[in-house]
Order: sequence, then structure tokens, then C-alpha cells
Amino acid sequence: MSYNLLKGKKGIIFGALDENSIAWKTAMRVHEEGGTFVLTNAPVSIRMGQIDELAKKTGSQIIPADATLEEDLQNLVEQAMEILGGKLDFVLHSIGMSINVRKGKHYTDQNYAWTQKGTDVSALSFHKTMQTLYKADAMNEWGSIVALTYMAAQRVFPDYNDMADNKAYLESVARSFGYFFGRDKKVRVNTISQSPTPTTAGSGVKGFDGFIAYAEKMSPLGNATALDCANYTVTLFSDLTKRVTLQNLYNDGGFSNMGVSDAVMDAFVDNQ
Ligand SMILES: NC(=O)c1ccc[n+]([C@@H]2O[C@H](COP(=O)([O-])OP(=O)(O)OC[C@H]3O[C@@H](n4cnc5c(N)ncnc54)[C@H](O)[C@@H]3O)[C@@H](O)[C@H]2O)c1
Repeated sequence: MSYNLLKGKKGIIFGALDENSIAWKTAMRVHEEGGTFVLTNAPVSIRMGQIDELAKKTGSQIIPADATLEEDLQNLVEQAMEILGGKLDFVLHSIGMSINVRKGKHYTDQNYAWTQKGTDVSALSFHKTMQTLYKADAMNEWGSIVALTYMAAQRVFPDYNDMADNKAYLESVARSFGYFFGRDKKVRVNTISQSPTPTTAGSGVKGFDGFIAYAEKMSPLGNATALDCANYTVTLFSDLTKRVTLQNLYNDGGFSNMGVSDAVMDAFVDNQ
């Protein structure tokens, strides 16, 4: 269902790799709600993924950018404003990657070069994106910037590895930069803490199937899907949430406030 919530709004969507990507679903929903945007991803992901198909479906252009490189981000922001005909109203940062996770390197045995690369891609890239937007004065007043995160920033999920630290960093950047963006440009900055979701990035986490099944059983409303996340992001890009900022917002079916559920308890109770 469409409510025209984003009619006339313009933005940039990072991180659509394939149709499972949270950013892909978000692009589709933003399009349905009347928003226009530029799609971006790292050059290698553009070559390997299916972003062309999404661009066709949404009538969007693709500007490649490695989100760790300031010059790529400057070019992206400049081009996006040119293509869309003015300043931006929304930006989605939907980027995450850990080489330690990908290569099965344990948290207690990090390859620090990989750790640093993961931090640069998953957390510092959010600061770089916002600094580029801020310096170029690229956001309209009452614009909205959203990044995606996971609850391992607050609680221990052993197999989430160094991504837990990256997400804590990302959430802190949202608050710290969000202050300056709010004070100086009336732009809001929030993170959405999403349920485990079957995507390329998500499935890289060791034991992901168990992880997702456990969260499903713990959450009174079940896991939030990628589409649920897209819908939540649409509300944050809309004018209905103008003074929501500096927040980490849980989109997780209630998981984050649970201690234990009946369904999980059943696995431990002796029914003999
Ligand atoms: N899937 C989950 O379980 C889950 C849960 C909570 C939060 N998240 C977060 O959601 C976001 C999106 O991930 P997803 O699950 O849709 O997976 P995904 O693999 O579809 O998306 C990750 C994206 O990051 C992009 N990326 C990697 N390196 C980059 C770089 N240097 N520059 C630009 N882009 C780069 C990839 O190309 C890819 O498009 C991530 O921040 C992820 O941590 C995912």
C-alpha cells in the first residue's frame, strides 16, 4: 500500500546488492511512496550484484562509490544533487562488512588489518558520508539520515565478532554527528536496530540459521523482515517523524526487551 509519504523528496540509497538486501527493499518502498533517489554501492558490488535491475525498476541512476573513500563520496554527493536537481531530503547508509567474520577469524584471534578495514567500511564510512554531506551543505532542512545496526552493539552475541564493536561505533557516530547536523542544518540522524535478516551480509555470520530461529522464538511479534525495515525507514524519511533524532530505534519484534519466552523455555523444560 502506498501513502505518498515521500512525494517530492530526493535522496541517496547506499548498499543494495541483490533483492534480499535491506537497501533493495527500501529503494522499492521509497519509490512506491513517491521519493526519487540515486543508488550507490562499491564498484565491485555493482559488478557482482544486480543493482542494474533495481535501477530500472525505480527509474534511478547508479553512481559507484566506495564509502571508505572521501573523493568517491564527494563525487557521489555532487552528482546526486545534479541528477536530482537540488539538495537532498534523505540518505540511507546500509553498509556492513567484516573480513574477520567472512574468513572465520575468531574474536580472540583478530587479524587487525582486517579489523581496521571492517571498521572503516562498517562504521567510519558513516562519519565520512555525513561529513561529506555536511560540508557540501547537501541536505535540505528537516532532512533525515538513517543507518542500519544490530543489537550486538549493546549485548553479547559471540559469533557477531568485531561487527559488534563496529555497530557500537556506528551508533555513537549517529549521536555525535546527529547533534551537529540537528543544530546547524535541522537534519535528523537515527539508527535502526534490525532483527537478524537473511541477506548476504547477515548470512555471513557463523551459525546464522540458529541465530535467526532463536530470535524468532524470543520475539513476541517474530523477527522483523527486510520489508518491515524498509517500511520503518520510510516513516523516518517522512515528515511524520520530524523531531525524532539521535535515537537507536529497535525494529525487532520486541526481542530487545525480552528476558525469555515460553517458546525458548520449552526447549529447556523436562517434559517427561
Ligand atoms: N542482515 C542482518 O541480519 C542485519 C541485521 C541488522 C543490521 N544489518 C545491517 O543492515 C545493513 C545492510 O546489510 P544487509 O543485511 O542488507 O546485507 P547486504 O550484504 O545486502 O548489504 C551490505 C552492503 O554493504 C555494501 N558495501 C560493502 N563494502 C562497501 C564499501 N566499501 N562501500 C560501499 N558499500 C559497501 C555491499 O556492497 C552491500 O551492498 C548493514 O549495515 C548490516 O550490518 C543487517
